[in-house]
Amino acid sequence: MGRLAGKRAIVTGAASGIGRASARIFAREGASVVAVDRAEDGLAETIAMISDAGGTAMAVSADVGDEDAVAGFINTCVESYGGLDVIYANAGVSGGRVPVAEQTVDMWQDILRVNLIGPFLCIKHSAPIMAAAGKGSIVCTASVAALRANAGGPPYAASKAGVVSLVQTMCNEFFASGVRINAICPGLIETGMTKPTFDRARSRGTEGKIGQLNPTRRNGVPEEIANMALFLASDEASYVNGQSIAVDGGLTSTHPFVPKG
Ligand SMILES: NC(=O)c1ccc[n+]([C@@H]2O[C@H](COP(=O)([O-])OP(=O)(O)OC[C@H]3O[C@@H](n4cnc5c(N)ncnc54)[C@H](O)[C@@H]3O)[C@@H](O)[C@H]2O)c1
Repeated sequence: MGRLAGKRAIVTGAASGIGRASARIFAREGASVVAVDRAEDGLAETIAMISDAGGTAMAVSADVGDEDAVAGFINTCVESYGGLDVIYANAGVSGGRVPVAEQTVDMWQDILRVNLIGPFLCIKHSAPIMAAAGKGSIVCTASVAALRANAGGPPYAASKAGVVSLVQTMCNEFFASGVRINAICPGLIETGMTKPTFDRARSRGTEGKIGQLNPTRRNGVPEEIANMALFLASDEASYVNGQSIAVDGGLTSTHPFVPKG
């Protein structure tokens, strides 16, 4: 039996990268999945991959920073699948690296809206449904950028630090409800978001340096984050609550150092 057999799950950012891998793995493990993204073509590809593998999934095109849209896709899951057990609030934007003097309030608001308000809205509209059922798991994607500098620009890092705080405070808002709320802090993962970094390194012939600062000495792949999301979504994580777990090859375990060889 699958590790999510019988569960009804929503995954946001499911058109690409970590979200796509998670939607596929959740479906493989028996969940009925609502795959959410604003990129409709990528979303259709994800649904086709899941269907071809014999899984159950439906697509909802939505902006995770829009409250009505979030309430809408949560309602779609409840109406279509008869309930909601898991939501993975994963959609995010990086905003790139912009010098501080050129950062605008609009830019900060755009990044915070998707990366922090998005998970807030997912929690706001899903946790009461889960609490009424006495069980549920909410997973958010934060980042190693939440924990230390130099893994993203200031608005991105601040948005992700906000997610770390959000899962701590929200799991206490839903104290004794049966709802668990956790986050994952990925390190460098090859996805749509990081494609420019990988493309640049490959064009310069420096791809061997990717991931050189973590003790696993490589970048991660989306499935390695999806596997943590699967664990946190499943009943195997029944005593894990309010945590932000780094899945980063050990990057955040180290002080700065000069890599050997
Ligand atoms: N790739 C990494 O190295 C890395 C590291 C740490 C954290 N993360 C986080 O992982 C999450 C997934 O990113 P990824 O790396 O898979 O990138 P990705 O670009 O491949 O996927 C992100 C998806 O989110 C969707 N999205 C963006 N804004 C949206 C919105 N407003 N509404 C709906 N969908 C929206 C995009 O269309 C895209 O499909 C993000 O939260 C990102 O910040 C990524």
